[in-house]
Amino acid sequence: MGVFITFEGPEGSGKSTQARLLYERLQAQGYPVILTREPGGTRIGEMIRRILIDLRHTEMAPTTETLLFSAARAQLVSELIRPYLKTGGIVLCDRYADSTFAYQGYGLGRDLEELHLITGVATGGLLPDLTLYLDLDVEAGLQRKRLARDRTLEVAHPGSTFATPPEWNRLDARDLAYHQRVAAGFAELMRREPARWRCLDAEQSLEQLAEQIAAEVEPLVQGVARLESYG
Ligand SMILES: Nc1ncnc2c1ncn2[C@@H]1O[C@H](COP(=O)(O)OP(=O)(O)OP(=O)(O)O)[C@@H](O)[C@H]1O
Ligand SMILES: [Mg+2]
Repeated sequence: MGVFITFEGPEGSGKSTQARLLYERLQAQGYPVILTREPGGTRIGEMIRRILIDLRHTEMAPTTETLLFSAARAQLVSELIRPYLKTGGIVLCDRYADSTFAYQGYGLGRDLEELHLITGVATGGLLPDLTLYLDLDVEAGLQRKRLARDRTLEVAHPGSTFATPPEWNRLDARDLAYHQRVAAGFAELMRREPARWRCLDAEQSLEQLAEQIAAEVEPLVQGVARLESYG
């Protein structure tokens, strides 16, 4: 029935970088694999993503935010994830439902029971086989993102004071205390379901972390049939 692997962690911890590296590695090994992300991953989901991250949308109610994330997730699960798992392939997803519990639940203080209900409706109860948590100090992660943003800005608009590049979005812009609550929330989620999670040190180099992730994933994907041309 395929293998479903998700990446979680605070802002700037390297989720997108590592998800792509793992995707390329598995593909090179001949595995049937897709890489997707939340919110987004589908045509409809990417439109919802734009609404969610828009810095102008300061009036968005927490319930609206929760339901938009869930709507994008419902579309992703039904359009992409479930059908691909059914073919026996590997699905890598850059964030998934755990982010809702961490961000809207622990971060924004939404009722966790209510989030469970909404998430159950959105996913039909689909859980990852493995969730890789990239553990990094919240301030260090935000700093990495600021550095990346400034580098992008320098290239795109040398000397400009352009204030809202797409890499720095509405959700990143929340205060440090919020991001700390999110990190504590992730820690609580890991305590509750230790078998599904692997907590990895995201301070190490990109290459070291990639090797560690590959080692965690290998036993899980061993049973997946490789594509024919690889024998
Ligand atoms: N192990 C690492 N050491 C140092 N810098 C890294 C490492 N991994 C990623 N980075 C850099 O940190 C920045 C954030 O990485 P990335 O976008 O992969 O993180 P993310 O967790 O996906 O962030 P976001 O929360 O924005 O989705 C990038 O500039 C990336 O090049
Ligand atoms: Mg990312």
